[in-house]
Amino acid sequence: MKNIFKLDGKIAIVTGGAGGIGEALALGLGIHGATVVVSSRNQEAIDKVAKKITAETGNEAMAIASDVTDEKSVQNLVDKVVEKYGRVDILVNAMGMNIKHNAFDYPMEDWDKLFSVNVKGTMIACKAAGKVMQAQKSGAIVNLSSVRGIRGYTGGNTGYCATKGAVELITKALALEWAPSGIRVNALGPALVITPGTKHIAEDPKLAAKYAAAVPMGRIGLPEDMVGAVVYLVSDAASFVSGQTIYVDGGLTAA
Ligand SMILES: NC(=O)c1ccc[n+]([C@@H]2O[C@H](COP(=O)([O-])OP(=O)(O)OC[C@H]3O[C@@H](n4cnc5c(N)ncnc54)[C@H](OP(=O)(O)O)[C@@H]3O)[C@@H](O)[C@H]2O)c1
Repeated sequence: MKNIFKLDGKIAIVTGGAGGIGEALALGLGIHGATVVVSSRNQEAIDKVAKKITAETGNEAMAIASDVTDEKSVQNLVDKVVEKYGRVDILVNAMGMNIKHNAFDYPMEDWDKLFSVNVKGTMIACKAAGKVMQAQKSGAIVNLSSVRGIRGYTGGNTGYCATKGAVELITKALALEWAPSGIRVNALGPALVITPGTKHIAEDPKLAAKYAAAVPMGRIGLPEDMVGAVVYLVSDAASFVSGQTIYVDGGLTAA
């Protein structure tokens, strides 16, 4: 039996690839054999991740800057990848942001900003890579949702929850529309993960204990916890899986 989790020969783009979760996913795809193209707006940050992937795996990795809210910029990213490698097999949309405000006072400029990155950005990246995948008649996409994509949360998260709910429905709708083109579209739904943006929680023992207590498995997630589900979803092991969200959340959404 062949190793159905191997990604050898596959070309992968990771948007948000220098983020806390994105870096782990980019490295994880590289470790499992993919040639990884890391992207975000910050060239210096993605260069570092690409160098790390090559150093740790011996595989080639590239860094191409792009802004997911700008269709031309994402098209340029995809065009460059196709120019260099001739295909795009995997897209992981690990970019994203949160802007928290009390719902009574939620500034609509921030609402638009959040939707622009999390929702429009997801669609723009899916569209650009999806067209290449359509021509190939194969491809696998993973969008980053959150446990907040299926559950409401207090603490100023109305906008974020709304964007992640949208990401989950974009994922399902594209899975249906693109299945005849051989493209699988799934999502990853993490609970809180310790990244540079959330490390203040891990560093505050009281806060860390509060978050950990809410998770049935009794701890907060790490970026490395996210890798297995994404490698599975983009590999041949998931060849009959589309339109799903895997919640990597220590059991949180089982309740
Ligand atoms: N950390 C958590 O606890 C957690 C839990 C559940 C879900 N998630 C989701 O997982 C994803 C990654 O989260 P994270 O914690 O790794 O976040 P992060 O560390 O803040 O990384 C976010 C990444 O997105 C990129 N990005 C932001 N705006 C962009 C834009 N307009 N164009 C291109 N790239 C852009 C950032 O790079 P630049 O700023 O350089 O562009 C960065 O690389 C997000 O979708 C997040 O909502 C996170």
